[in-house]
Amino acid sequence: MNKFDVLRVQKADLLALQEISRQTFFDTFGEVNTNEDMNHYLEVNLSMEQLTLEFCNPSTSFYFAKNCNEILAYIKLNEAKAQTEKRDIPSMEIERIYVRKEYQNRGVGQFLLDKSIQITKDKQLKLIWLGVWEQNVSAIRFYERNQFQLFGKHSFMLGTDEQIDLLMERHLDQ
Ligand SMILES: CC(C)(COP(=O)(O)OP(=O)(O)OC[C@H]1O[C@@H](n2cnc3c(N)ncnc32)[C@H](O)[C@@H]1OP(=O)(O)O)[C@@H](O)C(=O)NCCC(=O)NCCS
Repeated sequence: MNKFDVLRVQKADLLALQEISRQTFFDTFGEVNTNEDMNHYLEVNLSMEQLTLEFCNPSTSFYFAKNCNEILAYIKLNEAKAQTEKRDIPSMEIERIYVRKEYQNRGVGQFLLDKSIQITKDKQLKLIWLGVWEQNVSAIRFYERNQFQLFGKHSFMLGTDEQIDLLMERHLDQ
């Protein structure tokens, strides 16, 4: 698939952002988490109130990958203090990258990752990084294929369950 556009999410798109955020999170992690933990994440972390707060942060930006009017995927990028870990050099975090399951393995994720790298370079930032659940084998492979390297780990709570994220980074040559 090569006919898609990347568009910055606007305030009027927040409901659509919530829909794809919830659907893709559920599709990715629904089978490996309890209903309680999943519902908690969907209701609290992906509530309209929380998404609006994130959207209004000037150091955060969301982008959709669209094919005509259909939203195929989205990314959430954080810079400066919006990043979830403190970095020593000017950096960009990809906090979320999610492709709808019916559009995975067709190059949409690659397109969004390339776009994220371009945005990062345009801002003269030197590093792009992310956290990925240690058991998300296909995503880890995707990042490794894109020259991301492990630099640490951190734990996060999915509801009541403590999980480990691998932290991966790629230095960018300007
Ligand atoms: C991880 C993710 C973002 C990757 O996006 P994607 O659109 O599936 O990625 P791509 O299509 O660019 O690449 C995926 C694979 O498909 C292959 N592929 C891409 N285009 C292809 C095509 N036209 N024909 C055949 N294979 C293709 C790629 O070579 C790649 O192979 P790999 O598995 O060896 O890495 C996506 O799968 C996803 O959203 N997963 C669920 C959510 C998630 O885990 N997000 C990450 C949280 S950290």
